[in-house]
Amino acid sequence: MACRRGVLIVLEGVDKAGKTTQCKKLVQALQESGHRAEMMRFPDRTTRIGLLISSYLEKKSQLEDHTVHLLFSANRWELVPLIKQKLDQGITLVVDRYAFSGVAFTSAKPGFSLAWCKQPDVGLPKPDLVLFLQINPALAAQRGEFGTERYETNAFQNKVQQNFEQLRQDPSVNWKEIDAGRSIEEVHMNIKMLCESAINLAKNLPIGELWK
Ligand code: TMP
Repeated sequence: MACRRGVLIVLEGVDKAGKTTQCKKLVQALQESGHRAEMMRFPDRTTRIGLLISSYLEKKSQLEDHTVHLLFSANRWELVPLIKQKLDQGITLVVDRYAFSGVAFTSAKPGFSLAWCKQPDVGLPKPDLVLFLQINPALAAQRGEFGTERYETNAFQNKVQQNFEQLRQDPSVNWKEIDAGRSIEEVHMNIKMLCESAINLAKNLPIGELWK
């Protein structure tokens, strides 16, 4: 019998919503319950493209806005062969940010439409489940280290939140909202339950193409 594929799970939300903490806990929980699971994150700052993005985010270099948007997208595309390989091997991937962050952040800049921002990511492997960690951006801002990187201002994060709201209207993507204002453990239990059922549903279906 052919090996069942891994499932592509993405966590999204404004900065400091708790995505990284929850991704790590989810991977551990899935492994403990017998799944093969690994974490990925975007931007992946370890590649050559990722290093350019990282330097921009740390405000050590300037990049033109369209250019950096396309670099974020290229950073996802360069990892697509690896994503597909892992899914084919039956490994479930828990991904900290994906194309949705790409669109929500760039379209918070003046002059960028949602439609333009989505285009470079059309056709990426489509997540089986996108968990949106819902939190008031003002509350998220009170969490540690907010304000050190580019984009970490209240005004910008409010716009990002509004853009996520628009993206979540799209029924072609399997969005689930998580109340991220609760304790780490409560949020984790909620996420774990949703993922277990998504894994059971998705593992026999082919992986889709995003926004196609
Ligand atoms: P992080 O590494 O702490 O998650 O931060 C990455 C920052 O980059 C965060 O502010 C969101 C932003 N971002 C984009 O602007 N476009 C993208 O495509 C992605 C993945 C992140």
